[in-house]
Amino acid sequence: MNEHLAHHRPQWKSHIGFLFTAIGSAIGLGNIWRFPYLCYKNGGGAFLIPYFVALIVVGIPLMILEIGLGHKMRGSSPASLAGVSRRAEWLGWWQVIFVMFGIVLYYSVVIAWCVSFFFFSFNLGWGADPDTFFFQKFLMVGETPFSIGILRTPILFSLLLVWLLSWLIVYKGVQKGLERANKIFMPILFILTGVIVVWSLGLPGAREGLLVYLRPDFSRLSDIQVWMDAFSQIFFTLSLGFGIMIAYASYLPRKSEIVKDSCVISFTNCLFSLFAGLGVFSILGYMAQTTSKEVGDVVSQSIGLAFVAYPKAISLLPYFPRLFGVIFFGILVIAGLSSAISILEAFTSAVIDKFHYSRGAVVSVLCVFGFLGSMIFATQAGLYWLDIVDHFLTQYGLVIAAILECVIIGWVFGAARMRQHVNHYSAWGLRTWWDWAIKVVTPLVLTGLLISTLRDELTTPYGGYSWLAIVLIGRDWLMYTLFAAIIVAAHGWKSDPKDRMISS
Ligand code: PHE
Repeated sequence: MNEHLAHHRPQWKSHIGFLFTAIGSAIGLGNIWRFPYLCYKNGGGAFLIPYFVALIVVGIPLMILEIGLGHKMRGSSPASLAGVSRRAEWLGWWQVIFVMFGIVLYYSVVIAWCVSFFFFSFNLGWGADPDTFFFQKFLMVGETPFSIGILRTPILFSLLLVWLLSWLIVYKGVQKGLERANKIFMPILFILTGVIVVWSLGLPGAREGLLVYLRPDFSRLSDIQVWMDAFSQIFFTLSLGFGIMIAYASYLPRKSEIVKDSCVISFTNCLFSLFAGLGVFSILGYMAQTTSKEVGDVVSQSIGLAFVAYPKAISLLPYFPRLFGVIFFGILVIAGLSSAISILEAFTSAVIDKFHYSRGAVVSVLCVFGFLGSMIFATQAGLYWLDIVDHFLTQYGLVIAAILECVIIGWVFGAARMRQHVNHYSAWGLRTWWDWAIKVVTPLVLTGLLISTLRDELTTPYGGYSWLAIVLIGRDWLMYTLFAAIIVAAHGWKSDPKDRMISS
C-alpha cells in the first residue's frame, strides 16, 4: 500500500519550486496592507520586537509542526490528522472547509477588485474623488448587511477571471500548475515590489512617511494589545491554521530539510512585509506633503489603503501615474492569487486523498461552487459580509484550529516523536524547546488571544453591526462548516490513512 501511494502522490519538481509556492501562499494582501499599518499603530520600529518574538515563539514552531506533519503523513490536513487519530480527522476537514467555503470566497472578491483597479489604472478611472468612486460607484454599498441589492456586474467579470485563472493553475496539478505558476509569480512579485519601493522612496516627503512608519516608541510595548496584534498577524501572514502548509509539505520528497525550509519561508515572508511597508509609507508621506497634511491624517489600512488612499496618491504623482497604478495593482493581484490557489489546493488534495476522485473533476466542481459562492460578496452588501465573515473565520476559526493542532500533535501524537521525525531528515536539528513550544507555549498564547477576542465580542458587537447580522452571518458560518466537517469525517476511508505514514 505504502509503495502504491508513494508512487502516485505528486511531488515538487524542485526544492526552490516548493519554497516559492509556500512563500507565495504566505505573502498575500495582508503583507502589504496590514503589516505596515500595524507597525505604525503599535510603536513603529519598536513593534518589530513583539513581531519577531511572535515569529520565533509561535510562528516558526507551528510552521515546523505543519510541514513536519504533512511530510510524515504524506497527506492533506484531514488525511494527516486521521493518520494520527481518526477522532482528529474532523479538525482537518473543518479547516479546509471553512477556508475554502469562507476565506477564499471573499478573498477572491478582493482580488477581483484589484483586477478591476488594475484596469482602471490605465486611465486613472477613479477620478478626482476615489473615496466616493470606490464605495458609492464601484461597490454601491447598501445600508445594512441585509440590503443585498443587486450583483455588481463589473465586479462579476473580474471575479470570473480570478476563478478561471485559479482553476487553470490548480487543475494543472502540483508541478505543472502550482509550482510553475509560482516560479513565474514570485520573481515578478519581488521585482515589481522593488520597483515600487525604490520609486516611492525617491518621492518628496518619503522621509517623513518612513519616520512615522518606523520611529520606535518603546513605551507602547507595555500595552498588551500590541503583543496580541503581533501574535495574530504572524499566524495569519504565515498561512498557519489553514491546512495549507500541511498539504504543500505532503508533496515533499522523503529527504527534506524541514527546519531550514520553515525558517526560510517564515523569514522571507516577514522581511517582505517590512520591505513593502517602506513603499507604503513613503507614498503616504508624499501624499501628506503634497496635500499639506500630517502623515498621521492620511494613514489607512486594508481596503481603505488599497482602494482609496493609493488611488488618491497615484493621481497626485508627477510622472507616469498610470504605470505606477498598473504595477501596484499588479502586485496585489499576484500576491492574492498565489494565496488563493494555495487554499484551493489544500481542499482539493483533501478530497482526492479521501475519496480518490480525479483532480480535474474536483477542481472544476470546486471552482464552479467557489465562483457561485463568492457572488454574495459581490452584491451591495458584500463589503459588510466580507468584514463579518473575515472577523469570525480568522479570529476564531484559524486560532481554534491552530490550538487543536498543537494539542493533537503535542499530546496525542507526541511532540518528541514528531521532533524525531523532523530531525531524522534535517541537518538543522530541533531540541526539546520545540516540544515545549508546541505543547505549552503556543496553545497558551493562542488561548489567551482567543479569550480576549471573545471578551471584546460579548461586550460590544463587532464593527457596530446588529447582533442578528453577527449571529446569522458570522457565528453560523463557523457552525455550519463544523457540521459539514463532522459529516465528511464520519465517512469511511477506502484505504487506512495510517498506511500513508513515513516510518522514521
Ligand atoms: N498569508 C496570507 C496573507 O497574508 C493569508 C492568506 C493565505 C489568505 C491564504 C488567503 C489564503 O494575506
